[in-house]
Amino acid sequence: MSSTIRHRPPRAGSIAARLGQSRVASRLEGEVRVTAADLVDCVAEARLKVAAVRYKVEGEVRNKAEKLKSRVSVAAEKLGDEARFIKSWIDDPLRTGSVTPSSPALARRMASYVDPEQPGPVIEIGPGTGPVTEALIERGVDEERLILVEYSPEFCELLRKRFPRATVVQGDAYALSTTLAGHLTEKAAALVSSLPLFNRPPPSRTALAKEAFPLMVEGAPFIQFTYSVISPIPRKGSGLKAFVSDWVLRNIPPARVWVYREAS
Ligand SMILES: C[S@@+](CC[C@H](N)C(=O)[O-])C[C@H]1O[C@@H](n2cnc3c(N)ncnc32)[C@H](O)[C@@H]1O
Repeated sequence: MSSTIRHRPPRAGSIAARLGQSRVASRLEGEVRVTAADLVDCVAEARLKVAAVRYKVEGEVRNKAEKLKSRVSVAAEKLGDEARFIKSWIDDPLRTGSVTPSSPALARRMASYVDPEQPGPVIEIGPGTGPVTEALIERGVDEERLILVEYSPEFCELLRKRFPRATVVQGDAYALSTTLAGHLTEKAAALVSSLPLFNRPPPSRTALAKEAFPLMVEGAPFIQFTYSVISPIPRKGSGLKAFVSDWVLRNIPPARVWVYREAS
């Protein structure tokens, strides 16, 4: 005969029942408290995560908006330069010499022949709206070392705004020593020219080079771009060494850069 032991629940109201109930209740209460605290922590953590994501997203959106704004303003400025150039060309086509500013590729090529380590001022003649000036600074020539000789008063005003630490001289580059009097206090390290030289007869171009070299240190380059296939500074009897670059195709029209130095 098998005997089964059956646990009967304590009778309601008995001491055992009350004791049992209060233990279970306090254990349950404890568990509920821990679960509630966990829940509060989870919610706080989730809130922190949401705030971090929102901060990151807002930052990225702000960054993108800033970048877009600066690209729009650069584009607007470029458009402005094109318009200024066309106006200048309409006013005086021979002096302006081009309908558009030089491309960054051509400007960089010109600047590449300047040694930024060579001390002394760097003279730029015919800077226009400043693409070559910008390339020279990018190359490592400090803005303060730049002496910009520009004929057009409108371009000079613009250059003074764009390059406030450079010396902007409004005047004629073909009378270089007179124009630079009082501005050039030591010999220059280089001269970079964008003048439309072919609008002048050969003797004027020769005279320009003859006037420029004594203003520079020995071995300094006279850098000139041209759309033409021949040397803009007449070479015969000039006593100059010359180097010509390959065609810079990323410019309209394609151009080459001549670098002249006095033969020693
Ligand atoms: C072909 S644009 C070049 C402008 C700029 N450097 C560029 O590459 O876009 C020639 C510039 O030379 C200036 N210029 C022409 N004759 C000049 C002169 N005799 N003295 C000084 N600047 C002159 C014009 O006003 C014009 O800004």
